[in-house]
Amino acid sequence: MAVIYENRMITPEIGVMVVEAEKESRPGQFYMLRLEQGQDPFLPRPLSVFDYENGKVSFCYRVLGRGTELLSKLRAGDEIGLIGPLGNGFPLEGEKAVLIGGGLGIVPLYYLAKALKERGSQVEVFLGYSGEPFLKEEFESVAKTNINIGGYVTDDVDFSKQATFYTCGPEPMMRVAAKKMQGENPLWVSLESRMACGLGACLGCSRKMKHGNRRICKDGPVFDAREVYYE
Ligand code: FES
Repeated sequence: MAVIYENRMITPEIGVMVVEAEKESRPGQFYMLRLEQGQDPFLPRPLSVFDYENGKVSFCYRVLGRGTELLSKLRAGDEIGLIGPLGNGFPLEGEKAVLIGGGLGIVPLYYLAKALKERGSQVEVFLGYSGEPFLKEEFESVAKTNINIGGYVTDDVDFSKQATFYTCGPEPMMRVAAKKMQGENPLWVSLESRMACGLGACLGCSRKMKHGNRRICKDGPVFDAREVYYE
C-alpha cells in the first residue's frame, strides 16, 4: 500500500491524487490502483501517470461511477494499493514534438511534454475538450498550448510539419490523426482498454493489430500508429 499525499478536485468532476511511489515512472506508463473499502472493493483499474517528481506519482481522474467516487473521497494520509509503473510509455525523440490530446486523454501528455522539453525538444500541445477545460494552466506552464472546446482538435494541427506526433484520447480522434499524418513523421498513439490484471497475464486487453494480437497493458499502451486498426 502507498500513502496518499494529496487528493483534491480541480473541477466538480475531475480529481488529482498524489501518491508515494518507489519507482520512477516514464511518460505514458500507468498504474493499476486498488482500494478496499468495507464490502465494496474498488477493483483494480488502470490510471495513467499524470506526473512524477521526487518519489511522488500523480494521477488525474474523472468521477464517473462508484469506484472513482470512492477514490475521490480518499484524503492525505490514507493508503491505496498500487501496482506499477506498467507499460512501455512514449519514446522521447525528435527535435520537434506535437502532442494532441482529447478529453481525459490529455492526462499522460503533461508528463510527456515536461520530459520532451527537458531533453531539448520544441513542444507544441493541442488539447480538445467537450466542456470546461481542465489542466490548462499546467500545460501552458510547460509548452505552447492550443485549446479547442467543442470542435475537432485535429482540425487545428498542421500535420505537414516535420515533427514527432503523439496522441491520446478518444479513438475517433486518434483515427483522424493517423489518417492525416503525412510523410515519414512518426505518430505514437496511447490506447485504452479495460484491464483485469494489467500485467500481460489475462489477455483481457488483447487487441488485433496489423502484425497480430497485442496486449494493450504489456505491449502498449503506446503503439506506432501504423500498427493499429482503429475502432
Ligand atoms: Fe490482463 Fe492486459 S489486462 S493481459
